[in-house]
Amino acid sequence: MQTDQGRVIIVTGAGSGIGAATAARFITAGDRVALLDRDEEALARQLGRHAGAADRVMAQRVDMAVSADVDAAVDAVVARFGAVDVLVNNAGIGGFGHVDRLPDEKWRQVFAVNVDGVFYASRRALPHIIARRGNIVNIASISGTGGDHGFAAYNASKAAVINLTRAMALDHGGEGVRVNAVCPGLVQTPLSQQLCETPEVAARYMEAIALGRLAQPEEIAETIFFLASPAASYVTGAALVVDGGLTSATGQPNFTRLLTGETRTGT
Ligand SMILES: NC(=O)c1ccc[n+]([C@@H]2O[C@H](COP(=O)([O-])OP(=O)(O)OC[C@H]3O[C@@H](n4cnc5c(N)ncnc54)[C@H](O)[C@@H]3O)[C@@H](O)[C@H]2O)c1
Repeated sequence: MQTDQGRVIIVTGAGSGIGAATAARFITAGDRVALLDRDEEALARQLGRHAGAADRVMAQRVDMAVSADVDAAVDAVVARFGAVDVLVNNAGIGGFGHVDRLPDEKWRQVFAVNVDGVFYASRRALPHIIARRGNIVNIASISGTGGDHGFAAYNASKAAVINLTRAMALDHGGEGVRVNAVCPGLVQTPLSQQLCETPEVAARYMEAIALGRLAQPEEIAETIFFLASPAASYVTGAALVVDGGLTSATGQPNFTRLLTGETRTGT
């Protein structure tokens, strides 16, 4: 619900990458925005960036893996702004390792942040979101729609986020609440730095991505902003892929190049 002061938006993992770009998008739109992150220095940097809107921007340190922390952070937002219209569950971590070599701590860490964190924040914020007929946007990944070599815990965690999105959309649709997920492909952020900067990996990506380039965080932020807006009033339970065409491929070889020898930019 739009108010004179703008909606109240919570963005988790707002200290960096997609979360920082998303917070900036809502701030630019005139909304009141709470930036949540476990990295206090990153939060301070973002607060400085938005100093001109200090009256409607707040930052709250939180570890999304700790239920009591998340409860306290959501409560702090309600204490400051009096409501929650939109929750963007964006905080997330990667993790490399095959199942037969994954220690308990690593598996638990990935699930604690990527899945438990979404559950904790949604649980605490939902009564407020229901009161405003607001919505939730969860940041999943194309890694939640299929398997990747070496990313077992991450794949499983992001698939859980997609199905949690669908379940919450069913459970709360009758209360006027929409719940959607965004599934980005490769986005240029600190999380994906190693993938973007390893030449062989980057070259393989460029072959596989229809648009022939990786995404900027602002492009994902625009999609999140759309899903959270009245323009998406009939969209719920969706897992919107934003990957430049990466998952449009069946995985078969590039016939154009192999059979005709023709090469085009990005193929
Ligand atoms: N970058 C990509 O290519 C890509 C692709 C698909 C999905 N995603 C997803 O997008 C989301 C954002 O990723 P990003 O690339 O912007 O990453 P990033 O590393 O740039 O930012 C993530 C932010 O989350 C915060 N965070 C991490 N663990 C936290 C915790 N326990 N509590 C609170 N804050 C925590 C970090 O401090 C950081 O500021 C993640 O859920 C990620 O899985 C990213």
